[in-house]
Amino acid sequence: MSRQDILETTRKGSIERRLFDQIELDRLPRHVAIIMDGNGRWAKGRGLPRVEGHRAGIASVRETVETCARLDVPVLTLYAFSVENWKRPRSEVDVLMMLLKQYLRLELSTLMKNDIRFQVLGRLPDLPPDVVSELEAGMERTRNNRGLLFNIALNYGGRAEIVDACQAIVDEAVAVGKTPTIDEAFFAEHLYTSGVADPDLLIRTSGELRISNFLLWQIAYAEIWVTDTLWPDFRTQQLFEAIIDYQKRDRRYGGIATKARSTA
Ligand code: FPP
Repeated sequence: MSRQDILETTRKGSIERRLFDQIELDRLPRHVAIIMDGNGRWAKGRGLPRVEGHRAGIASVRETVETCARLDVPVLTLYAFSVENWKRPRSEVDVLMMLLKQYLRLELSTLMKNDIRFQVLGRLPDLPPDVVSELEAGMERTRNNRGLLFNIALNYGGRAEIVDACQAIVDEAVAVGKTPTIDEAFFAEHLYTSGVADPDLLIRTSGELRISNFLLWQIAYAEIWVTDTLWPDFRTQQLFEAIIDYQKRDRRYGGIATKARSTA
């Protein structure tokens, strides 16, 4: 997948092409993170059961992954299932797990073909064993791919991640019998995202102005873009709009203004 594909798959004069032409390709976000929200409302608005919103959301996942790969965005993280989502009705949780398995099974060849590496962020061992084995197979198959890093946050919580990092640091210290000196870089190495750039752009769909326990450490300086579009309606157009808006922001990091960063 390449930027050339974007030119070939978008019609000249179409909204997507006009938006694409406005994107500065040397100043893309290094990491785009998305809180996918509004599946339930999308279904309710059509008189459908909530799970139909999740099913429809898969097409948005597919298109977003493919567009990020084509653009050459280095990292995409999608928030698919939080540690709090177990409170949902059992039937809804079961459908979400089934959709995940189905997505991976159907998309693995596309991920391979496009050099996409797939990773899970979250407490993987607490997921149902059949889901874990599907996810592990997907991670193993795509391990050596060098294009887009596609993270799915699953059974994920930002606070849980910080607690897990603390536990990992304590376990290591006990194993070597030595107390480490902890600084921010050392701490970040123990997060699920160890070695991965922090998100430059955080997108949330469906208009809610909340972080919902997502990447709490990593989004310290992320630019936030919220759209009223519900996740099942999110497409390349909205992704391009988010990137264009991101590129207009002055990023200060507590200091003086700089334009949104370059991937270089
Ligand atoms: C939020 O909508 C969405 C979710 C909790 C799940 C998102 C999952 C998918 C799109 C399917 C599987 C994902 C992958 C990566 C294959 P909501 O149900 O909270 O919507 P509401 O706020 O309108 O009720």
